[in-house]
Amino acid sequence: MLNGVESGEALLDIKDLSVSFDVYGKKSHVLDEVSFRVGKGERVGLVGESGCGKTTTLKSILRVLPKNAVVAGGEISFEGRDVFNMSETDLNGMRRTGAGMIFQDPSSALNPVFSIESQFLTAIKYANPGASKKELHATAIEALNGVMLPDPDRIMKSYPYQLSGGMKQRVCIAVTIAAGRRLMLADEPGTSLDVTIQDQILRLINQLVIDKGLSVIMVSHSLGVIRESTSLVNIMYAGTVVESGATEDVFELPMHPYTKALMSCVPKLTGGSISRGIPGRPPDYSRPPAGCRFEPRCPSSGDVCRAKKPPRLEASPGHFVSCFFAEGAA
Ligand SMILES: Nc1ncnc2c1ncn2[C@@H]1O[C@H](COP(=O)(O)OP(=O)(O)O)[C@@H](O)[C@H]1O
Ligand SMILES: [Mg+2]
Repeated sequence: MLNGVESGEALLDIKDLSVSFDVYGKKSHVLDEVSFRVGKGERVGLVGESGCGKTTTLKSILRVLPKNAVVAGGEISFEGRDVFNMSETDLNGMRRTGAGMIFQDPSSALNPVFSIESQFLTAIKYANPGASKKELHATAIEALNGVMLPDPDRIMKSYPYQLSGGMKQRVCIAVTIAAGRRLMLADEPGTSLDVTIQDQILRLINQLVIDKGLSVIMVSHSLGVIRESTSLVNIMYAGTVVESGATEDVFELPMHPYTKALMSCVPKLTGGSISRGIPGRPPDYSRPPAGCRFEPRCPSSGDVCRAKKPPRLEASPGHFVSCFFAEGAA
């Protein structure tokens, strides 16, 4: 059993994904053998500090990496098809009707010069071949109602600048639903918005994902968000997945020193201690540590951690940790 996916084909399967960036002729080795799967209807979290490669992972899935990115190794398969070797047609098909990204800042997802209606209908026509404009319009209105946007007719006639951030985010979610996409890549959705709005957006995503049976990768730097909205979680540090498993298990019994440190940073409601932060910072990706990438910041490392990459151990069924010294991992 890998990552809780017991049997059958995963909707998404990422295997040993390594991605680097060319920065003025120097290589920046960001993702290092990232692997995880997402099953149908599963809600999978990706959590870690800023700069650890969460967005790069999502962009790899849709093959929308920046020009200076190089996929140095690994494979991604979406519904059984190899994403890195897909034809242009299949790739467009996947982006239109298979998987879609919900961004931190919803403004970046909408084109300011076109009305919501024109963007909406363009986005969903591939999922509804042969549908008339009137039928597409009705589908869009239904989806806008589904994301609790009041007065969908007015929204359709609007331009992005006439809508608030929260409204734009809801429009993007409605498009994903109406386009019949199976996988939502939610990249810190709403983090650029007001906290209460962000909270509403997260609730909405959770509800829709459950109602529609969508799969979601929920990216966040917030453990609270992940705990509430996922059933499986991958903890990322410096371009590597250091721990993964059922969200409940990982929160109940964190095993990797990084996960433990992350969790001890969360202000406790009961105690007086506020975030201490983890001393140090992520490594320089142009010269990452040869062994464990967390070693320079780890409170409990040994010589072996500098010499070798830690193996991925199954500490309990479905709970994996990449650490030489994780207690309980054999
Ligand atoms: N186009 C790029 N060129 C060079 N480095 C990049 C580029 N995009 C991202 N990076 C670097 O890759 C690392 C991971 O970035 P990102 O995936 O955005 O992290 P996260 O989403 O977890 O905050 C960061 O150090 C970032 O500076
Ligand atoms: Mg990011």
